[in-house]
Amino acid sequence: MKAAVRDRYGPPEVVELREIDRPVAADNEALVRVRAASVNPADWYSMTGRPYVARGMGGILKPKSDRLGIDFAGTVEAVGRDVTHVRPGDEVFGGRSGALAEYVCVRDAVVPKPVNLTFDEAAAVPVAAITALQGLRDKGRLQPGQKVLINGASGGVGPFTVQIAKALGAEVTGVCSTRNVDLVRSLGADHVIDYNYEDCTRSDQRYDLMLDIAGSRSWSECKRVLTPRATLVIVGAPKGNALIGPLGRIVKLRLGSLRSSRRVVFFIAKLIRPDLEILRELIEAGKVRSVIDRRYELSETADAFRYLGEGHAQGKIVVTM
Ligand SMILES: NC(=O)c1ccc[n+]([C@@H]2O[C@H](COP(=O)([O-])OP(=O)(O)OC[C@H]3O[C@@H](n4cnc5c(N)ncnc54)[C@H](OP(=O)(O)O)[C@@H]3O)[C@@H](O)[C@H]2O)c1
Repeated sequence: MKAAVRDRYGPPEVVELREIDRPVAADNEALVRVRAASVNPADWYSMTGRPYVARGMGGILKPKSDRLGIDFAGTVEAVGRDVTHVRPGDEVFGGRSGALAEYVCVRDAVVPKPVNLTFDEAAAVPVAAITALQGLRDKGRLQPGQKVLINGASGGVGPFTVQIAKALGAEVTGVCSTRNVDLVRSLGADHVIDYNYEDCTRSDQRYDLMLDIAGSRSWSECKRVLTPRATLVIVGAPKGNALIGPLGRIVKLRLGSLRSSRRVVFFIAKLIRPDLEILRELIEAGKVRSVIDRRYELSETADAFRYLGEGHAQGKIVVTM
């Protein structure tokens, strides 16, 4: 089968298309024929091997695995004898490392795909939408009627965050640049702030929850618009330096808020089956949809990474098989 692989850490140029052995499903795995995948900043960090402090599990000097990608949608080809939640022939979506390939073996994080989405649209969902769901519901403890500020409402994670916050009953304000204002409004945001013209931290509004996806504001700026009992959920941060990357900003925000009555939380999303099922329900109920910016073929995966690395996607970047 064909797969997008890399033998060393580096820029998108290290990624190449290669013929490798098709995997065989273990007893607890399903073999999925991937129809579409999507790329996330996590794949960028895995490709570049930056920041260095995060290399522990993936290989210190060179990557332990040559495979890339997480998000996929496709068709189940075969299942191991212990697998009962999906069957051969099922159209599914989920996440597993190595998804940028024609086939992937996946253990738990795979469920039937929403009936109203194409494979491309379904492949755009897993990491970004689970991040939005867990950030709002678990870390942000969002309650209906609360006011939520979403800084970075237009990239991979932002559009899902706007829609899921609305589905959870919040009053949503999305922050984006001029060219994305219509997109964010069309996703259901009650208010949209264009960061080219307006500073969201200088508004008279007070928010119960802020999800910082863009990572563009300091703690002293954020706290101006947070109620005394509010929560700031740190979702993303700029790439930072080679050694500690985005971690520097996260530590700074946490330290800055130590004496505050507000909560500041950072988390790494977990790709778990129950949350994939909740997302499928939200999508099939028409409450959440995928926004796809660009599509690339598997042979163009390096280009997909180049575009992701620019950090200005308007929705998700999908790789089709
Ligand atoms: N914690 C987790 O588990 C988790 C999971 C997934 C992703 N993340 C992190 O979340 C971040 C975003 O991921 P993504 O997939 O959405 O990335 P992305 O697709 O590259 O999107 C980045 C978005 O940020 C916007 N942006 C840039 N500067 C901004 C600013 N000053 N104010 C407001 N928005 C701004 C960009 O919009 P413009 O083009 O309009 O500037 C773009 O839409 C990354 O740091 C990623 O590592 C974390």
